[in-house]
Amino acid sequence: MSTYLRPMVYALAIAVSTLPLFTLPMSTTVWAAAANPVFGKALYTECEGCHAVARNKVGPKLCGLIGRKAASVTGYVYSEAMSASGLVWNDKTLDEYLASPLDKVPESKMEYAGFPDPADRFELIEYLKVITDPSKCK
Ligand code: HEC
Repeated sequence: MSTYLRPMVYALAIAVSTLPLFTLPMSTTVWAAAANPVFGKALYTECEGCHAVARNKVGPKLCGLIGRKAASVTGYVYSEAMSASGLVWNDKTLDEYLASPLDKVPESKMEYAGFPDPADRFELIEYLKVITDPSKCK
């Protein structure tokens, strides 16, 4: 999608999400096609206690996450399990990890249960792509 179209699609997704409940089946279809950044942002609040985009907290900083090798932020001390995971973060690996972090990387130290709902994970990952875009963070 061109950067020109993206804000329009977001505006549409937000507008649709505010329609009355009886239109829910239709709006659910729209969400599957275009991420809703309002939902993504709300889901991301679950991560903010431990993560920031631009600095290490309890967890490593998330800037540049997409395409990044697991356990590659300098200055952050990862678990051995994460360091040895061999993962590269992309749609698929993030989806699997966020479904159940300790099943994907046993013995890692992220104490978070995960999101069982695939639709939630889709929204969150789309939101992560926007806020961790390396051209917008360091
Ligand atoms: C309770 C604190 C906590 C919460 C909540 C949390 N994380 Fe983490 N996260 C961590 C820690 C600690 C690590 C390092 C894991 C390790 O080294 O084993 C980590 C690692 C990660 C990694 C791997 C990063 C890398 O550099 O390889 C990703 C991706 C990640 N978290 C995403 C998320 C997302 C998205 C959320 C919100 C849904 C979230 N985390 C919620 C603590 C947390």
